[in-house]
Amino acid sequence: MRMLRLSCGAALSNEKELRKYEEKISSASEALLAAACEGKEGCGWINLPEQNYEAVLEVADVLIDFDSVVQIGIGGSALGNKMLFECLAHPFYNELSREERKGPRFYILDNVDPELCLSVIEMIDLSRTGFIVVSKSGTTAETMANFLVFWDKLKEERGSDVAKQLIVITDPYEGILRKFVQETGCVSLEVPQNVGGRFSVLSPVGLLSAAIQGIPIAELLRGAKDIKKKLFSRKSLNDNPAWVLSALSVEHYLKGRNMFVFMPYLSRMSSFTEWFSQLWAESLGKNGKGMTPIRAVGAVDQHSQVQLYTSGPDDKLFLILSEEKSKRNVFFPESVEENSLNALSYLWGKDMKTMLNYEAQSTIAALIKSKKPVMWMEIPKLDAYYLGCLIYFFEYVTAITGKLLGLNPFDQPGVEQGKMYTRAFMGKEGKEKEKLEAESYLRQARLLTINL
Ligand code: PA5
Repeated sequence: MRMLRLSCGAALSNEKELRKYEEKISSASEALLAAACEGKEGCGWINLPEQNYEAVLEVADVLIDFDSVVQIGIGGSALGNKMLFECLAHPFYNELSREERKGPRFYILDNVDPELCLSVIEMIDLSRTGFIVVSKSGTTAETMANFLVFWDKLKEERGSDVAKQLIVITDPYEGILRKFVQETGCVSLEVPQNVGGRFSVLSPVGLLSAAIQGIPIAELLRGAKDIKKKLFSRKSLNDNPAWVLSALSVEHYLKGRNMFVFMPYLSRMSSFTEWFSQLWAESLGKNGKGMTPIRAVGAVDQHSQVQLYTSGPDDKLFLILSEEKSKRNVFFPESVEENSLNALSYLWGKDMKTMLNYEAQSTIAALIKSKKPVMWMEIPKLDAYYLGCLIYFFEYVTAITGKLLGLNPFDQPGVEQGKMYTRAFMGKEGKEKEKLEAESYLRQARLLTINL
């Protein structure tokens, strides 16, 4: 059964150019699998499709009765949740009735923006709301700040017996949140120690909120498991699209195309591009290397970005994604009686899905005409099974690309630096030196300040 198709003739000038990557990719792929078996740092995502997710379902069973669920987290502890929610739940899920929705309303608090925080408070009835607090490290200032606000509010308004409204997802042994779980006895799930934030969507981090929204998580994992078999067993550029995508990304990067535009022709995949951007940027942007991910959604960005893509600088590699069949479709009228609308007869009797797919093909054709490198990915449909395939596919491509670039795709020193300065600015004890250091950098910014 085909899980996806990648057509990349228009991103390839010479097939031989890619062959040089084959051996390297083969060893990288084997090394990843071996590292996963040994439980090495960062490689735990490889075995997530085979995990036992009973505990997730049990916790979901408790949360499902609430009116609302608020997930508090940031980066890898929120983007995957948003992605699953938007790809698979109804686009206006929170506006549906309880009978239609089946699960609680869902809100994500992934910033320390007071407006966002207050707006969530205004939308929920605290006594009928469950909270999922996710932080692998348990030290992320943004997540902990939002957590403190709601924990304090819960206790103030609901008394002391509120631990049952809170589910914590964190490291199995370490961090503030693990200690908090031990102290309060609230229910918790584990982020396996060797699974990094941006690779954690198929762990309890992503699965819990998905389960309460009625997303079949068994299907997500089945898709991931099926594609895993193919990705690790197909050992040639001829039959492994992930290898080709990775090799082409590096080849174009080395030719100066250091931007990677990912443009699915599906509104529901807008958050998927956000999730992918984090995966690509945080895994590959290090040691002076990296390809800037650019998010676009078709056909919307045809009317915004495609002018630049076709006629701007040749510094981008494009990946256009389309879905072969949608679950539902909209048909245009066979004809209309107003003469003024006759010029639209080319639309009569046609349907929206066909049109959307022609839009994707039009952009591909326009890019090829402008001599820009473009790859075209087609997926049979966007359901839980194929989304599981897609998630795992991109995680694999990212990890392989990191190996090809000679860097560690599983760390994020640049993110940690910013996190540490935030804690220092907010007055964390022992971080006085870091605060002074950050302030001295800010003085550089202030060397030229213009008021208006
Ligand atoms: O991928 C990563 O490691 C990061 O983006 C983290 O997910 C993010 O910083 C949040 O970290 P934590 O889950 O420890 O709060």
